[in-house]
Amino acid sequence: MAVIAGNWKMYKTRSEALAYVQEFGPLVANTDREVVLCAPFTALATLAEKLPATGIALGAQNVHWEAEGAYTGEISPPMLTDLGVQYVIIGHSERRQYFGETDERVNLRLKAAQRYGLTPILCVGETLEQREQGLTEAHILAQLAQALVGVNVSRLIIAYEPIWAIGTGNTCPAEEANRVIGLIRKEVTLLQQVAQQTPDRVQILYGGSVKPDNIDELMAMPEIDGVLVGSASLDPHSFARIVNYQPVA
Ligand code: PGA
Repeated sequence: MAVIAGNWKMYKTRSEALAYVQEFGPLVANTDREVVLCAPFTALATLAEKLPATGIALGAQNVHWEAEGAYTGEISPPMLTDLGVQYVIIGHSERRQYFGETDERVNLRLKAAQRYGLTPILCVGETLEQREQGLTEAHILAQLAQALVGVNVSRLIIAYEPIWAIGTGNTCPAEEANRVIGLIRKEVTLLQQVAQQTPDRVQILYGGSVKPDNIDELMAMPEIDGVLVGSASLDPHSFARIVNYQPVA
């Protein structure tokens, strides 16, 4: 099943989140796609009350790796599951860029999320500089190698998010996103084999300036299993159009 996840980032108060769901819910009521809203921590409890009736799943945007402890300002996996959160974004490039997130911590978060039954959405992707230097593949493989140590690769979602495409309106061409996601899939399949895990298809999403006018083309690509959407997920109508995409032939 295709996964269409919205990343609200640091947007929406509780009342704004409620108004959104009221409008968005009916627009996606008939979808067979897995729709996820990754909201700020402060809106999770409010959304958790409303979303079950809509079939929309709830996600967070980060999680600490300990269950509890003296970690001022942090939120733990059981705190999220207690609210009914099912998904959590881990290693988003904005966390890596602005908050010192490292691959080592990404790995800790991934393992903790899985331990508590959360489905992680692991973000990887290259900068424009890395792309121009021909380092895209090496960078992504290094990110995966470090992030996935000791992680069950059959129980996570990966999002390929080229940093130069995030928030820029500069979407990665669908064929190129398809190519890189194919490489990620190859690597993950290899890791499944090494760990002797059943070779289930890992869902790999594309993220970076996904909009109503490019979703159909992206979702027509064989390797792209869904999308992670930032700014276009903030408006219920534009996000509903993305959820209700029609892959072009
Ligand atoms: P964008 O963000 O859709 O606004 O480019 C994507 C993301 O950061 O996940």
